[in-house]
Amino acid sequence: MAELSHRPLRELIEGFGGCDEYFTEMISSGALISGGRFEAFYLDTAPCPERVVFQLLGSDAAQLAGAAAFLDRLPCAGIDLNMGCSAPAITRTGAGVRWMADIDRAGELARLVRSRTKRRLSVKLRTGPGDNFDYLLDFCRRLADEGVERITLHPRTAREKFRRRARWEYVARLREGLSIPVAGNGDISSAGELAARSGSGTCDAVMAGRAAVRMPWIFAEARSIERRAETGQAAPNPAPDTPNPNIEETGLKFLELLARYQPPEFHISRARRFFGYFCDNLKWAHYLKTALNRGQTLAGVEQVWKAYFRENPEEIRAGVFPRKGL
Ligand SMILES: Cc1cc2nc3c(=O)[nH]c(=O)nc-3n(C[C@H](O)[C@H](O)[C@H](O)COP(=O)(O)O)c2cc1C
Repeated sequence: MAELSHRPLRELIEGFGGCDEYFTEMISSGALISGGRFEAFYLDTAPCPERVVFQLLGSDAAQLAGAAAFLDRLPCAGIDLNMGCSAPAITRTGAGVRWMADIDRAGELARLVRSRTKRRLSVKLRTGPGDNFDYLLDFCRRLADEGVERITLHPRTAREKFRRRARWEYVARLREGLSIPVAGNGDISSAGELAARSGSGTCDAVMAGRAAVRMPWIFAEARSIERRAETGQAAPNPAPDTPNPNIEETGLKFLELLARYQPPEFHISRARRFFGYFCDNLKWAHYLKTALNRGQTLAGVEQVWKAYFRENPEEIRAGVFPRKGL
């Protein structure tokens, strides 16, 4: 996720026990092959390169293939093509979900990229330009024929952005219709939901987006739920292996990681993005987000963050107040 799924967030999630795989922020293929100034930060896959998937964004097939060939040399879990981003600034250029408007164009891209990398090749996409499952299935079959090995579906149309609910039934139907694994994504808002979707047998993997920013411990909590389900244990509340994170410390840790691993030019925008979701663990989230957004430096953000918990010490632990949805 742009400005969110970078090393500091991965470090935070790893601190709670980690997850199976991480996707990078979308990386502009053009900037990557022309040696953009900040590319080293986008390519930083620590602390677990073998579980990081590079995601490429672009509208030019030759550029995307060149970028894939470049990434092929780096340790990673795979290379992913972004065919799902619906932000107007991206679709205007022919990138993101615009690839889904033309099956042949997308198929040729997949073939070209396939010819330049031996890494696991995947595509992340939406339902498509409209709500047409047959079109989605044809589109994904063509990608699979061209050598794409995995699909992640966020089952909303290009126009819907985050409106309506994600149509998870399309994930199950797509998996039935394809011979390659299908991961589902969209609207996971709790560890219970993550565990339930993962165990549902209707998809090969589940991707959590915004919820993983709001609750970097969500994977640990889901594992604890799964373990209890496997052993048939009644769930004491809270279960002994359920994380009970300190919200204040987690926010401070994030600021420290941001300062350590990201360039100063990225600090404020990325702090705002993170706290835009992380504050939703708290009762006075709206007030706090406004106050944090006034901060111009990480030190300023830290001051506001600490002051909030001096005034609201009962909020230091997660779960005191009911968590909001996404
Ligand atoms: C701020 C933000 C940035 C995002 N950036 C990307 C991105 O770079 N690549 C991508 O494939 N999806 C991106 N997404 C979409 C998410 O990966 C995901 O598909 C979407 O948020 C739905 O999943 P969720 O309900 O679990 O968040 C982004 C979403 C948000 C909110």
